Amino acid sequence: MADAAAPTRYVFGTAFDREEERLAHGEALWDKGTIEKLSHLGVDETWHCLEVGAGRGSVAAWLAARGAEVTAVDLDISRLGRLGALGVALWELDISRDPLPEGAYDLIHARLVMQHVGDRAAAVRGMCRALRPGGYLVLEDTDTTSLFSHVDGEFHALVKRAAYEVMIDAGYHPRCGLLDVELVEAAGLSSVHADGRAEVVRGGSDGARWFALWLEHLRPAMVARGTVSDVDIDFAVSDLADPRHRWLSQVMVTVTGRKDDR
Ligand SMILES: C[S@@+](CC[C@H](N)C(=O)[O-])C[C@H]1O[C@@H](n2cnc3c(N)ncnc32)[C@H](O)[C@@H]1O
Repeated sequence: MADAAAPTRYVFGTAFDREEERLAHGEALWDKGTIEKLSHLGVDETWHCLEVGAGRGSVAAWLAARGAEVTAVDLDISRLGRLGALGVALWELDISRDPLPEGAYDLIHARLVMQHVGDRAAAVRGMCRALRPGGYLVLEDTDTTSLFSHVDGEFHALVKRAAYEVMIDAGYHPRCGLLDVELVEAAGLSSVHADGRAEVVRGGSDGARWFALWLEHLRPAMVARGTVSDVDIDFAVSDLADPRHRWLSQVMVTVTGRKDDR
């Protein structure tokens, strides 16, 4: 469990020359479902939106294309430069420690972020305070149980476990999609709704590359921990590139809550 006062130790914040590519494959895998969810809320040019942990910025760009006024925040905003041309304001912050303006946003969205932050409860409370009355908080995080379910059984179970051990050491929560429901309710939002989606990923596809680059990014730490070798990881990466394999992704849980309209 992470120390409440500690800054986030983001596990992917280490040097990896293909991180931009990894983030792009993640967007390709998850954006369709995210955009479907956000479309139902009715975002338009009257809305002020905050995209938390914006990464490479595809969701912030989509919100801006709907005409909304958008601010994108992240521990590292170096990959968000192109959003300036879309009128998106950028702000470097740690969502678990740095204050947000109160009562400012109609929508706050964070995907694949809460699962990494140091003090999740404080982050969710801060985001709730930053909502306007009637505003929505949408958190999307994964439950990892289904990952690498394969028609022949579990795919590369040892490598999967070793990767998540490295992430958990850095404060990652492997059931965060479910935990988000409790955090959003505890923060006092109403009409809390949660559901999940998973993708079937084919080896060698763009989606498959997100998983391969996940292992490549974590490879040095996994090998240093001693539970898997470079050869184990090479074998997994080679199978992930093979179109004869198909596997289930994690379940992406979307939790939506609304601040009372007073
Ligand atoms: C896995 S990436 C997801 C990026 C993007 N949300 C997406 O789904 O494509 C997580 C992002 O959250 C950012 N992040 C992690 N911890 C954070 C924190 N405490 N405060 C702000 N951003 C954070 C990381 O820098 C990274 O850009």
